[in-house]
Amino acid sequence: MPLQTDEICDIARCERKVRTLKALIVYHSQFGNTRRLAESMAETMRQRAEVRLVSIDALDAAEVETADLVVTGSPTHAFAVPQAVRDFLEALPAGILAGMSVAAFDTTVKVWPLRHLRASPRLLRHLRRLGGKPIAPPQTFFVQTRNPQKSGQIDLLLDDQLGRARQWAEQILKKTNEERAEG
Ligand SMILES: Cc1cc2nc3c(=O)[nH]c(=O)nc-3n(C[C@H](O)[C@H](O)[C@H](O)COP(=O)(O)O)c2cc1C
Repeated sequence: MPLQTDEICDIARCERKVRTLKALIVYHSQFGNTRRLAESMAETMRQRAEVRLVSIDALDAAEVETADLVVTGSPTHAFAVPQAVRDFLEALPAGILAGMSVAAFDTTVKVWPLRHLRASPRLLRHLRRLGGKPIAPPQTFFVQTRNPQKSGQIDLLLDDQLGRARQWAEQILKKTNEERAEG
């Protein structure tokens, strides 16, 4: 006897619960600091998930469709999301993140007086508009200088930001797994 629709849905739900979670971490990074954070997150998540780490300019939109969790990170540029990242997200088809958990982070200068004007809340808004379900509040990691080009400094991360990144990755992975188990 053929399966009924609700039985097929139950099987699909079950399959999602038992297979290894697929996480996609997409980042943009001009000087390498956001990339280092994304790498730390990927390393942490790889212990319990299948992780793909990719720079946004190398991302194939088809890869997005198979993920359970999409994490996006970029620096704050001019109080906002860098134009290249905005262009990429705006070109993605509406609804591409439907049914997926999403989270966003940025790198921002700690002593910058307007540091509340940061990229990650806007990034998360883009991900939500594409159908994603936020799994955590937007997260900021701190760097120490606004203008690396002038200072010649490239390694900008403040102490313990990589540790914070690992902890955050652990939390969002746990939350995504819990929601999958409930769903
Ligand atoms: C064009 C430009 C604009 C920037 N604007 C801001 C800003 O508005 N607020 C801020 O906190 N940092 C700003 N920064 C500093 C970046 O946040 C910093 O370079 C970045 O976090 C480093 O990350 P990355 O190494 O991944 O590029 C700016 C940097 C550049 C190059």
